[in-house]
Amino acid sequence: MTIENILLCFFKNYKDFQTDFSPEINCIVGPNGSGKTNLLDAIYLLAFSKSAFNATDQQLIFHDENYFSVKGRFKLQKSGREVICSLMKGEKKKLICDKVPYTRMSDHIGEFPMVMISPGDAEIISGGSEMRRRFFDGIISQIDRNYLELLIEYQRALLQRNLLLKHFGQHHNFDYDRVAPYDNIILNNGNQINTRRQNFINDFKDVFQYLYNEISGHKESAELQYASAFSHPDYKNRFRKNIENDRVLQRTNLGIHKDDFEFSLNGYSLKKFGSQGQQKSYLIALKMAQYQVMFEKKGFKPILLLDDIFDKLDDYRILKVLQMVQETLFGQIFITDARPERTMQLLSSVQAGKKIITLPV
Ligand SMILES: Nc1ncnc2c1ncn2[C@@H]1O[C@H](COP(=O)(O)OP(=O)(O)OP(=O)(O)O)[C@@H](O)[C@H]1O
Ligand SMILES: [Mg+2]
Repeated sequence: MTIENILLCFFKNYKDFQTDFSPEINCIVGPNGSGKTNLLDAIYLLAFSKSAFNATDQQLIFHDENYFSVKGRFKLQKSGREVICSLMKGEKKKLICDKVPYTRMSDHIGEFPMVMISPGDAEIISGGSEMRRRFFDGIISQIDRNYLELLIEYQRALLQRNLLLKHFGQHHNFDYDRVAPYDNIILNNGNQINTRRQNFINDFKDVFQYLYNEISGHKESAELQYASAFSHPDYKNRFRKNIENDRVLQRTNLGIHKDDFEFSLNGYSLKKFGSQGQQKSYLIALKMAQYQVMFEKKGFKPILLLDDIFDKLDDYRILKVLQMVQETLFGQIFITDARPERTMQLLSSVQAGKKIITLPV
């Protein structure tokens, strides 16, 4: 899959901008603040209907304007597809594919697979377990539509259960019959989500470890483990017995919403002991593994968006990443760099079509 062109109107720092893309490598260069990351974000928006960086859609509108619109033309197995994402202030965001608007944004997820690596991803390692769940849930949702539905239903039940617990806590009463329907959803969906996360990690781990070894020159042993209270055979009883605890704390304390994915290097926590370069290598291996897994499941290559990925890596690791990009024949790639001469030099040995997109100050 490739994106052939894009048209931006009042999207972040772009008033009116359009460009064509190379089906192979695109280097977006320009000084700090020129809009390199924003251009990647516009491409990301067309696939995920939300920004990779901004928490609210309103922030995507050019300061003091009333709307934004992003239009892109994709090529998917020889056929052309057009996606438009737009937002008018005070209205709901619109997502249109081949002139047909979506009623549910989630129906779009996975249609145009993409993998982005950006500096903010460091939080997958340094942040709380929620960041890691979000990362893995994002991948599994893109390859398994039913997973996303299970997750949405689970989150809804969890929210309702927590509201009820809070309500009972405030009124000093309790009625289990009102909680029970939510328990059933949490246990049933939770069990299915747990199995899918476990199965996914089993396959993903091998690809990830192979890639980490390649980047690090086989010097370090990287491990990845899924940890969930719902993996225990007695999870149903434990969950039910925990109700007293839930009542006191007025929220649900056991479930797949507390799961974590543990990252370690040579047997030690990556977050606590890994160097910045090791953490970045781990992150790139995670994302490249995501790419490989999505490629296998979809049968075509996702788009790879690389935002400032060379920072913090030593020359050996940069070379390895570039070799991977070339050898494993990633599909269409976007690379941003505030130092264009470095990118040009690094890419000079890569045999592929390249387009340089230079952004003005
Ligand atoms: N809603 C908005 N309206 C107008 N300008 C915006 C909006 N949101 C962000 N910007 C501007 O976009 C610019 C940042 O763009 P971006 O992050 O893409 O830069 P960059 O080229 O990636 O820079 P760097 O090299 O530092 O990573 C900033 O100048 C910021 O003020
Ligand atoms: Mg940037």
